[in-house]
Order: sequence, then C-alpha cells, then structure tokens
Amino acid sequence: MKAIILAAGQGTRLRPVTLTMPKPLVPVANRPLIAYAITLLKRAGLTEIGIIVNSLESSITRALGDGEKLGVKLSYIVQEEQRGLAHAIGLAQDFVGDEPFSVFLGDNIFQDQMETLLREFPDSDAEAAIALGEVKDPTRFGIAEIKQGNVVRVVEKPKDPPSNLAICGVYLFRKSIFDAIGRIKPSWRNEYEITDAIQELIVDKRKIHAYTLQGWWIDAGKPGAIIDANHLVLGDMAYTPPPEGDHITGDSAVSHRVILGENTRIVDSVVRGPVIIGDNVTIRGSYVGPYTAIGDGVTIENSEVEASIIMRECVLRDVPGRIDSSLIADNSEVVASNRQTPSAHRLVLAENSYVQF
Ligand code: DAU
Repeated sequence: MKAIILAAGQGTRLRPVTLTMPKPLVPVANRPLIAYAITLLKRAGLTEIGIIVNSLESSITRALGDGEKLGVKLSYIVQEEQRGLAHAIGLAQDFVGDEPFSVFLGDNIFQDQMETLLREFPDSDAEAAIALGEVKDPTRFGIAEIKQGNVVRVVEKPKDPPSNLAICGVYLFRKSIFDAIGRIKPSWRNEYEITDAIQELIVDKRKIHAYTLQGWWIDAGKPGAIIDANHLVLGDMAYTPPPEGDHITGDSAVSHRVILGENTRIVDSVVRGPVIIGDNVTIRGSYVGPYTAIGDGVTIENSEVEASIIMRECVLRDVPGRIDSSLIADNSEVVASNRQTPSAHRLVLAENSYVQF
C-alpha cells in the first residue's frame, strides 16, 4: 500500500514561524513535524510515500530529498493552489494507481502508531477508514456521527456538531474515492473537502470503518499546539541516565532524560529533563527546564528557559525572568539591554509575532 502526506498548506496560523519555514518542517523535539508521519508509515511497512507540496522548490523537498535518510522512498506531487484536501488527494491518483492507499495530514502528530489499522485495511471489507478522536471544540474539525459502530454521516466544521468525534487527519481509501471526489462541489470556505467525498461514499452505502485513536493526538496548526506536541513527545521519551563527560563542567547538574548532541557544552548550568539539545550548543550559567527542545548552534547564557522550542542558531543572553512555553524560530536573539536608563524594550518582530512581558 502507498501513502500520501498532505503538506501544501501555507501555514498561515503558525506565522511568523512559517514565513520562512513550512509548517511540516517546524521542529518538535528537534525533528521536523512531518518526520513523525513518515516514521509511523515506515513502521507499518508503508515505504512508498507521495508528499503533496505547493512547489518543487519547497524547502520540504530540499530537506527530505528522496527519503533515503529516513529509510523510505519519497515522491513529490505539486498542488499549486490549495483548493482543499479532496483536491490535493485527487492529484495523487496516478501515484497510487488502483491500489488502496493511506492519507496523512502533514501537520498532525499522534501517539498511536496505528500499525494494525494500516496493515489490515487492504484486506478488510471497508471501502474507507477514518481515525477518530474526541475533541472539546467539534466546530473546528471534520466530525463523524456513529450508529451501531458504523459511520453514518461525516460533516466538515459543523455549526451544530452531531458528536464530538473528530476526523484526525488519517484516512484509508480505495480507488472509489477518486470518483467521489469528482462529484463534490466546493464548500462554504471554497475548498474541496475530503469530508464531503467520504459522505458521497456513505450515500452510496459503502462501509466506512471508524478507528478510535488511542493516546494523544495534536493538530499542530498553531504555536500553542506545537509547544504541546513538543511537551508530549518529550514526555514519552524513554529513560536515559544523566549524561556525563568533559562537556559538562563547573557547577552543573544535568538530570536523566537529557539528550545532548555533539560538541555541546554545559557550563555552570542546571538541565532538568526531559530535554533534547542539538549539536554545537553552549549553555552557560543557565537553567534549562523540562520539556524544552534546543536546536543546533544555540547559545544560552545567564538565562532560564522551560517547556519551549528554541530553534537553530538562536541566542538567549542575560534574559530577565524565565522564558516559558515559547516558540523561538531560527537565528532569533533575545538579549537584555545593558542600559539601565531609559528603560526600554527593543523589538524586531515579524508579522503575527507575539511578545508577553
Ligand atoms: O486536523 C484534522 C482536520 O484537518 C480534520 O478534522 C478536518 O476534517 C480536515 O478538513 C482538516 O481540517 P483543517 O482545516 O485543519 O485542514 P488544513 O487546512 O489545516 O489542512 C491540513 C493539512 O493539509 C495541512 O498540512 C495543509 C494540507 N493541505 C491543505 C489544503 C487546504 C494541502 O496539502 N492542500 C490543501 O489544499
């Protein structure tokens, strides 16, 4: 079975981070978001994966290449205009051919590895399968109505939700979906909704299997959700003993569940896991608290940070107070002013930035 991952969105809800980096490449525990879907698919034996991108020049194609490093075979399918999930899936018809296939959204991340669902679908009697999870705000998702274990209706972002069971960005289809996609019209938000195509299958009396997701699931579309995903992935990190060696010096205390990259130095600092730190990082006179991911080339001096994502080549120096639950993109600097008066904050912020003093 082949798989496709939808990654052609503009990531507008995650600006300014996505002004320079597509959402699927935003790092969660120092791995790009999309790598989690790829790893999950590979584990279930799905190694031929088509990624829907908005351009072949996308940094996604540059970052992932032919997939060899991840142990999969990647192809890229271009969706120039983001006309909806059904439109994107329709573009993959030649890639998947007549065989069953799975679809993942490139911005969703799951604790459940769904191996049984993926392995058993091709030989099952279901025409399609969707993964469902309970949500508090069903008006924001595609929602399924279930009766006696069967999916009897699906509806996209309903004003009056029939249940709180959201479609979680995982779909399994047979070639019948392409005919259904051909029959739908754009929705009120002017997108071809895959939910509407699934509803066509239901009207045709085809069986839709409802799979209940186990564990956590995050639609990592907004900064808060990315930070939550980072927290949950690091929370699932297996025990590792406290790291030791010449690279930890002075009055330092580094706990268990702390992963340190190559050439990384901890000087006079406290690091409390779960924490992941990339290569060529310097942490001096600082505190790095649980659920923090620090990218390559970062410098943190005389500062405190917790439950945050600090991407590559950032500098945090002499920051007063603690940086908490923050998302700081590549090459950013957060430094203290060395002038006492006049007391002022100096900011260089991109569109949609958020600062809390
Ligand atoms: O997160 C789960 C929800 O995802 C489901 O409950 C909804 O039924 C489903 O429609 C979808 O809703 P969203 O509004 O969250 O979808 P979004 O526009 O964020 O797109 C999801 C991913 O698909 C994202 O990685 C970008 C990609 N995409 C999106 C569109 C509209 C494409 O590749 N092409 C597109 O045309």
